[in-house]
Amino acid sequence: MAASSTNNIIDLLERLLKILKEENAFNRSDDQPVIRFRHPHYLQKIIPMSLDDKPASNREIETVIRQTIQYSVKTSSPHFHNQLYAGVDEYGLIGSWLTDVLNTSQYTYEVAPVFTLMEREVIQKSLELVGYPLMPEADGIMCPGGSISNMYGMLLARHKILPCIKKSGIFSLKSPLACFTSEDSHYSILKSANWLGLGTDHVYKVKTDEFGRMQVADLKRLLIKARNDGKQPFFVNATAGTTVLGAIDPLPEIAAVCRSESLWLHVDACLGGTLLFSEKYRYRLRGIELSDSVSWNLHKMLGAPLQCSLFLVKGKNTLHEVNCAQAKYLFQQDKFYDVSWDTGDKSVQCGRKVDAMKFWLMWKARGKIGLTRSVEQAMSCAEYFLKRIKETAGFRLVQSHYQCCNICFWYVPPTMRDESETPIWWQKLYFLTNEIKKRLVLGGSLMISYMPIPHKEIGNFFRMVVNCQPPPTKSSMDYVINQIEKVAIDL
Ligand SMILES: Cc1ncc(COP(=O)(O)O)c(C=O)c1O
Repeated sequence: MAASSTNNIIDLLERLLKILKEENAFNRSDDQPVIRFRHPHYLQKIIPMSLDDKPASNREIETVIRQTIQYSVKTSSPHFHNQLYAGVDEYGLIGSWLTDVLNTSQYTYEVAPVFTLMEREVIQKSLELVGYPLMPEADGIMCPGGSISNMYGMLLARHKILPCIKKSGIFSLKSPLACFTSEDSHYSILKSANWLGLGTDHVYKVKTDEFGRMQVADLKRLLIKARNDGKQPFFVNATAGTTVLGAIDPLPEIAAVCRSESLWLHVDACLGGTLLFSEKYRYRLRGIELSDSVSWNLHKMLGAPLQCSLFLVKGKNTLHEVNCAQAKYLFQQDKFYDVSWDTGDKSVQCGRKVDAMKFWLMWKARGKIGLTRSVEQAMSCAEYFLKRIKETAGFRLVQSHYQCCNICFWYVPPTMRDESETPIWWQKLYFLTNEIKKRLVLGGSLMISYMPIPHKEIGNFFRMVVNCQPPPTKSSMDYVINQIEKVAIDL
């Protein structure tokens, strides 16, 4: 029985691999559409989506697997630039599959001995890259995404200023706690304030400059305002690589303000943290080592499989102290091994997916040298793309320079180029950006996202993202320009 079910699983996996090959799921060349977009009612009609009492046949299962591949977005296409992630690093994928085969939780050494050591190693290496002290003087944990990593930052900051909240709740607060983050920062800071019971009204949005970087003078102004409003400032979130413009806030200056005002400084380096691998670009994150905590998504620019996010924090035992609930059924202190290796009580989760192996295997297989090379290749392609946009007629940059892997721009069709740029002209350009996007997606040739920045009164523009996977090339950059020109020919 045991043998036959083992064979069954291996047969199924072999069959899956065959289907993946036949359906070109690993294809990184551009000989297939990046997407075959269909509206939901069409997919509902053709894919047998309903879950029934009777099991489906092998044939039905195979059909649905093939349809899933066919109608899913090919993020490994060289023409997927839609999100802050793309493709997948092949060693990361193997790490992810192996983790799934062994299916365990990361919470105790007992059930995850090798993974516990791997998580520790990636944390140590990442602490070193950031410039923090090593464990046990600092610590870290892998989280289910950057939003949760950011929430850890806010939670630890709250615990530092008011440790009593852990037991007595926020009812003991005399005045509301106030957080500060830039208007270009990620919305997860607002969500954290909601989840931690602080309230989104107490999140102060600091103005940014033309490049999307936090204005330190405005941070100082808002700190005074918050105090005048009867609030207690405790947490500043600085961003290293904002979601839209890829801006990196002036970390040393913000750190100086936080030090003088005794505020916790968290750096959301979910996007830009990957630049730390490169000697050529890491200076852009200068000052990150002065922070109290950092979030970093390996699943963004670097190409680790989703999700792979690190939270790092200075201080001995900090994570454990804040999160521990000392469940006796799981974290028994009288186990036969050194229980300091049980990491589960440092986390807000109980069962925790193993994410460390993806990053660990990528680093092991490529070495730091290989990861550095990937980052530098992506950044040099981003620079090449920026140059092409500057030189090519009809393309216009939203801002003149970029610090990370995002480049934001408009395409002005020939018919509009000699017209005067009235508010109506701009409205038309914003509308056409949306129209070009629609044509690209429906044609399946390119995925690049568009967005406005309402607080800067900027309407829709394209955000090009150059990630490490699949390794970008000059020709994949040229393709974006050519493709936009091609679909916009009659506009
Ligand atoms: C700067 C920044 N921080 C945090 C996040 C949230 O990360 P996640 O999507 O893993 O929750 C994002 C997501 O795009 C981001 O751009």
